[in-house]
Amino acid sequence: MIKRFSYALAGIVAAMALVPAAASAAEGHAEIARQHWSFSGFTGQFDKAQLQRGFQVYQQICSNCHSLKRVAFRNLVQPGGPEFPEASVKALAHDWPNKITDGPNDQGKMFERPALLSDPILGPYKNDQEARASQNGALPPDLSLMARARAVERDPPWYIHPFLMLGDILNSYQEGGGDYIYALMTGFSDPPAGFHLVDGKYYNHAFPGHQISMPPPLSDGAVSYQDGTPDTVQNYAHDVAAFLSWTADPSLDQRKRIGWQVMLYLLVTTVLLYIGKRRIWSAIKH
Ligand code: HEC
Repeated sequence: MIKRFSYALAGIVAAMALVPAAASAAEGHAEIARQHWSFSGFTGQFDKAQLQRGFQVYQQICSNCHSLKRVAFRNLVQPGGPEFPEASVKALAHDWPNKITDGPNDQGKMFERPALLSDPILGPYKNDQEARASQNGALPPDLSLMARARAVERDPPWYIHPFLMLGDILNSYQEGGGDYIYALMTGFSDPPAGFHLVDGKYYNHAFPGHQISMPPPLSDGAVSYQDGTPDTVQNYAHDVAAFLSWTADPSLDQRKRIGWQVMLYLLVTTVLLYIGKRRIWSAIKH
């Protein structure tokens, strides 16, 4: 009986290993490699220096097209994020090229003013129509929640799914969005022979359908890091993906820390309850 069970288990494990690859190849989904992130696993935390570099990449490159509306400048100062000094973020907000529309003033007119710490990080376009008009009809989406909105696609048969989910729960895998953004940033290339690329689109291995309207945003040396990290596309992609993982889940550090504190508390409570139970019942004959 046990033998038969272990054969069945071995079969399932083998199927888990083989089927996802075969199925996703058949459906045209790109294989997206898992990256190493400082914030993965049960104890992982964001790396402040990496978030600072990621913001630099966003500021110098991505903010030319994408907004970050759900993040306020003050969030860049708060604990658990890039933790820039407040004075420098104040200056950054003041000089941010995309101004805040405020008003109405005493004459009933709307006016533009520089951003304050409490204002959102705006992109270059006033609305989606303006964005589409200047991007050939394509809309550069807001990036604040992008790392939560995307994940690594897998299409195994339905009976394999529970095992993959179980594996992800045991690994505490939640970095699919970061993995996807990294793959997207590094996935540009010439189309393979015979691939019909629509005019004005770019071939990208990670993007579903492989044709994207975003021109390749990164190139080696495009951003000058100050902390000695080499200026390569891989590093930019890693850092900006980590930064966008933070914007999408800014309380991750705190959540994980409190999680451990709660576990410790429950452990102590369990021991106390057990001792209490022994003492109460020890007086009763049975
Ligand atoms: C020249 C403008 C431009 C720049 C610069 C740019 N993007 Fe984009 N981006 C776009 C457009 C346009 C789209 C929409 C693409 C589409 O729908 O085909 C897009 C889409 C995206 C998407 C969504 C892909 C999806 O799965 O839907 C992500 C993520 C993204 N960009 C990240 C970035 C990051 C990170 C940077 C900076 C390193 C960046 N972009 C720089 C124009 C830009």
